[in-house]
Amino acid sequence: MLETERLILRPLAGADFDDYAAMLADPDVTSGLAETVGTSPSDAWHSLATFIGHHQIRGYSHWAVIEKETGKFAGRAGPWSPHGFPGLGVGWCLSREHWGKGYATEAGRAALAYCFSALDAEEVISLILPSNRRSAAVAERIGHRYLRDEEYHGQTVHVYGQRRQNRDS
Ligand SMILES: CC(C)(COP(=O)(O)OP(=O)(O)OC[C@H]1O[C@@H](n2cnc3c(N)ncnc32)[C@H](O)[C@@H]1OP(=O)(O)O)[C@@H](O)C(=O)NCCC(=O)NCCS
Repeated sequence: MLETERLILRPLAGADFDDYAAMLADPDVTSGLAETVGTSPSDAWHSLATFIGHHQIRGYSHWAVIEKETGKFAGRAGPWSPHGFPGLGVGWCLSREHWGKGYATEAGRAALAYCFSALDAEEVISLILPSNRRSAAVAERIGHRYLRDEEYHGQTVHVYGQRRQNRDS
């Protein structure tokens, strides 16, 4: 479990299903995702199971983002590297009511630091749909830069990323 100024980042769990399904029921949320997911409860169940299973397989995954002030589920964010992903990624997805508060940037910075320290990453990337300006802005705020385009899940995505700073400098 990690803690930032305004957020708790803790493992996703089956008990998050109702909140998770409510988040993904909003097409404004799902349309931004590079890994296509539908808006039905069944789609949400499979998505949640994938993030929980990713933790079983890799030892890390997106965390549930919890707003400290209210205890509310705000979304998910964290490190991510499923089969076929071109590197170690960090990602973010918030329910619509939690956009515009800086939570994705706050969680994204914590995820990035986790990748460089706990996971000893040399480089961390994020795959972002060209139309997703909000996500690109989060990437830039955490210090990522546009690197290249790649094909991923049948669509062109922008790859943003950054390398670890020299620890001796
Ligand atoms: C991508 C996504 C997480 C971005 O959310 P966001 O709210 O725009 O990003 P942040 O949480 O970093 O918030 C930044 C905004 O909060 C504002 N803000 C308000 N209070 C703030 C505070 N205390 N600290 C920092 N920023 C604050 C910033 O000014 C900024 O506003 P702006 O959008 O008008 O410039 C969100 O749009 C989302 O979940 N989309 C659907 C899923 C998705 O696309 N995921 C990414 C896949 S690659």
